[in-house]
Formats: sequence, C-alpha cells, structure tokens
Amino acid sequence: MSGEGGGRGGRPAGGGGAPRRDGGGPRRPSGSGPRRDGGSTGGPRREGVSGPRRDGDDPAGQHRDPAGQHRDAAGRQRPASRQAPRERTAAAPSARRRSSDPARTAAFDVLRTVADSDAYANLVLPPLLRERGIRGRDAGFATELAYGTLRLQGRYDAVLAQCTGRSLDQVDPPVLDALRLGAHQLLGMRVPPHAAVSETVGLVREQVGAGPAQFVNAVLRAVSREPLDVWLERIGDAADPGGTDAVARLSAVDSHPAWVTRALREALVGHGRDAAEIGDLLAADNEAPRVSLVARPGLADRDDLLAAAGPDATPGRWSPTAVTLAGGGDPAGLSAVRAGTAGVQDEGSQLVALALADAPLDGADARWLDLCAGPGGKAALLAALAGERGARLVANEVQPHRARLVRQAVAAAPDGAVEDVRVGDGREVGDAEPGGYDRVLLDAPCTGLGALRRRPESRWRRTPSDLAQLTALQRDLLGSALRAVRVGGVVAYVTCSPVLAETRLAVLDATRAARRAGLEVEVLDAPAVLHGIAPGLDLPAREDAQLWPHAHGTDAMHLTLLRRTA
Ligand SMILES: C[S@@+](CC[C@H](N)C(=O)[O-])C[C@H]1O[C@@H](n2cnc3c(N)ncnc32)[C@H](O)[C@@H]1O
Repeated sequence: MSGEGGGRGGRPAGGGGAPRRDGGGPRRPSGSGPRRDGGSTGGPRREGVSGPRRDGDDPAGQHRDPAGQHRDAAGRQRPASRQAPRERTAAAPSARRRSSDPARTAAFDVLRTVADSDAYANLVLPPLLRERGIRGRDAGFATELAYGTLRLQGRYDAVLAQCTGRSLDQVDPPVLDALRLGAHQLLGMRVPPHAAVSETVGLVREQVGAGPAQFVNAVLRAVSREPLDVWLERIGDAADPGGTDAVARLSAVDSHPAWVTRALREALVGHGRDAAEIGDLLAADNEAPRVSLVARPGLADRDDLLAAAGPDATPGRWSPTAVTLAGGGDPAGLSAVRAGTAGVQDEGSQLVALALADAPLDGADARWLDLCAGPGGKAALLAALAGERGARLVANEVQPHRARLVRQAVAAAPDGAVEDVRVGDGREVGDAEPGGYDRVLLDAPCTGLGALRRRPESRWRRTPSDLAQLTALQRDLLGSALRAVRVGGVVAYVTCSPVLAETRLAVLDATRAARRAGLEVEVLDAPAVLHGIAPGLDLPAREDAQLWPHAHGTDAMHLTLLRRTA
C-alpha cells in the first residue's frame, strides 16, 4: 500500500464524497459524505471514494509508504529523514519548493483528458493510476477528487463564477479545471483549507505557470472563506433570484443541467412517483455508487462470493445473485471475477435480466436473444441462466469492439449455452429471423440519464438532440425485437434511463407501430415478476417497472415486459 494518506493536511479524514449541508441548507444532506467539521454522518463508506480516515493517522500526521517516503501534513511526499512536518501556510505559496502531489496531478490529468479528448473518466483514471503506481488510499483520493469534481462541476462553476471576477469562459480551461479540483477539496472533501489551496496552487504553478497560480490562489482563498451551506444558498439565489424557478435552483445547487433536471422530474411523475423526490434523486446522482458483484448462476455460488469478498461485503439488497462490496473493495482481486464466473454488475441490471428469464412463458423456452449486447454484463447473466435451463443465447451487437467484449463476458458460460455472438444491426434481426426466439432482451442504447452517478462527466455531455436521435433508434429496435420473438414469447425492453421518451413513450409508439404491422402485443406485469425475485422491492402499482438510485440504490433501470400474442 502506498502512503497511508491519513486525514492530515492534504487528505480528507473520512470516507470522501459529498459533504453534509449542516445549518439549514436548501435541502437535506446529500448522502453519506463526510462533514467539514470532521464528524461523520454515520452513513456507509462509499466504494471508490475511500479517502484516508482519521483513525489511520499517526500522531505526527505522517505516513510511510513502501518506498520509505512520508506524507506530510499537506499530503506531500517527503523523505524519511525529514520526520517533523514543517507547517506551511497558504498565504505565501510562491515561497515554496514543490512538486505536485501524484494523486492530485492524476485527477488533474483526468479532467484535462476528459475535456480535450472527449474521454470517459472511468476509462481514463484506472490505467493512469496503474501506470503511475498510485495505489491504496492515494488511488481512492485521486478517484474521489476526479469523479467528485466532474459530478459537481456545475455547482463548483456557479461558486467560482462568484469568486473569479470574470466570466468562466475567460478562464483558461486547465486553470478552470484546477479551480474545480480546488473547490471540490474545499467544499466536497474534508481537505483542510490551507492544504486544498496550497496544493492546488502548486499544481497550477507546475502545470500551467506562476501567473495563473496567483490567480488560483486568490480565487480559492475566496472560496474557502464560506462553508458549503452558504455557497449553496448563494448559488441557488443567483440561479433563481425571484424564488420562482425551482428547477434552476436545484440544477445549480445539485449540479445537473436544467434540461436533465426537468426530464428527471417529469420521469418521476410519469413513473408514478412524487415530483418532490427530485432533490433526493439529484443528490443520489452525486454519490459514488457502491460496487455490486453478480454471482452468475450455476457458475459461482453467491455465498462463496460473499465470503471471498471479505468481512465487510454484504449480500445485495435485492438481487439473489448480488454481493455488495464495502468501500475500497477491489473486484479484480477476486478469483471468481477473474474467471468470469462472477462480474461487476449493478443490482438493477441484474434484476432486469433475471426478470426476462423469469417472465411467464407458454411453450418452448429454448432460444434467447440479447439484441444489443455490448459490453455483455446482461448477456453473461443470461448465458449462465440459459445454461442452467438448457436454453441457448444469441448475443448481437452492432459495434465489433463491443462484440469482442461480449465474447469475453460470456467466455465462462457452460458449453452450449451461447449459440453465437454476432456483429450486426439489431434493427435487421426481426426481419432476418422473424419469430426466431422465445425470449428477447432489448437493452436499448439510451441517454444513460439513469446512471449518472456511474459516469461522472456524462451529464455535461448529453444534449437534448442526443435524446431525439436515440428515441428514434429505440423505437426501431423495439419493433425489430417484437418481430424477432415468436408468438407467445417475451420481450424485455430495458433502458438505463427513466426519461419518458425513452421508456413509456418508446414502448407506446413501438407497440402501436407493431399493431399497425399486424402484430399483437400485451404488456406483462413487470413489478409482479420482479417481486418474485426481490419480494421487498417497493414499486408503484403499474405494468412497467422503474428503479431509482435514491429509492432503490440501483441505477434508474427501466423494464417493460411485453408478450407477443399474435
Ligand atoms: C445499453 S448498451 C447494452 C448494455 C448491455 N446489455 C450490457 O448489459 O452490458 C446498448 C448497446 O447497444 C449497441 N447498439 C447501438 N445501436 C445498435 C444497433 N442498431 N444494433 C445493435 N446494437 C446496437 C451499443 O453499441 C451498445 O453496446
């Protein structure tokens, strides 16, 4: 393990993540994150954000890593011979000799790559940490810093806009990214202010230059003068000066684009929940999800996986195949994951695949299709279930590199359970193989607005025009799925978005079009099927099912089960 980090100076004292909004902020505290006052909300530690804990500190605030280096009070690495940390203040950062902290530099590089190359943070960060040998709590710190900053970028931009004295458009992008990192350390992690400021200033001096470093020093010192609650009131008031635009206020405070907030609020209502839940939903999007594992039936035993995952792992909340890792758990360290008999899979994603397999069906149950299978999480679960039941799975995916990932994902499936993994346009399968399948999963390409906590930058990338393109594709794919299933067979229409245009309206449009083409379709009771798998699942009484991060702790997966009747 590299530097123990440990709650002094440069590193937060608790489990990372969003801070509490003590003292009458606009809403309830956002999740289980640490408090600025050093206390803890007592909530569960969050996977991937396991910043160093105060209880791991040594009295001098120093920590030895395997190379004999120590971390000083500002989280900087220092030679073992310099035992006593010399106190440095943020007041005179230019006086310091410094080299940026590797974890902060890694987070900065991730933000720059995400901005410049349109990259996905969760694909950029892990290899970067490996290449640089950043491990353990340092890796946890870098992860929380990068992902938390990206999730809360809208909030921090609103704060920074009040401190820079200029429009953020006029701030150089690398400097703005550094300011956002500094703001997250100050307002979203329990990094002591002097360390948050001085480390960020040092980073900017090294990466950008001395002039911008002075600017960053001034701005972050202004940010540090008020606690988060005060900033949330201020940015809420700036976004909604008349007190009449709740969406604008929530969007600024809870860091979502306004069109996304609006679409999610409509989705809550359209799926039978209360619009007032929107604040909790947005707050849940700002939390790092815990890692869920799936024990693939017939290949891995859930209790064995639970035991292997360590004493802090727990059985999944809903899915009988799920194990939830404690914060800091490393799935790649588990032999079942390496062997492909288990995998990393959100519980909601497990539930919808299990529901397709359990949906009532008359007659043959031999041939299953996953129409849009890449990268293969659900295909691997379906292949395992098919193997247990003597059925076989065809997995189709339009992108060759994603089809390769599907092949890897199903590699551990029992012999004969996977008939084929194909590259092809799912819109053509219904005409190429009409009535060829007993069960069809359409896990449709979608905006992913139900998995925002998992994809830190995606909320800022998505646009309403993506929605328009995707909804046309979703309707065509569902039409194809309904043609590909035999009469009496079942289609599961799934999205990791709750947005109405991608869920209820897509199903309505596609089933109407199918009827016009002479197909008859009935909607099955998806909540009843899910209750057979997860009896305690709280779902409104309606035909389709919508899961939510704030209510169920899963991604916001949508499930409609459809039976072809003619
Ligand atoms: C939501 S993802 C599926 C996730 C997958 N079921 C899993 O659990 O790993 C949607 C997939 O559909 C694929 N896709 C997009 N358009 C498609 C098309 N016309 N035909 C088939 N697959 C398509 C995308 O490349 C993407 O891999």
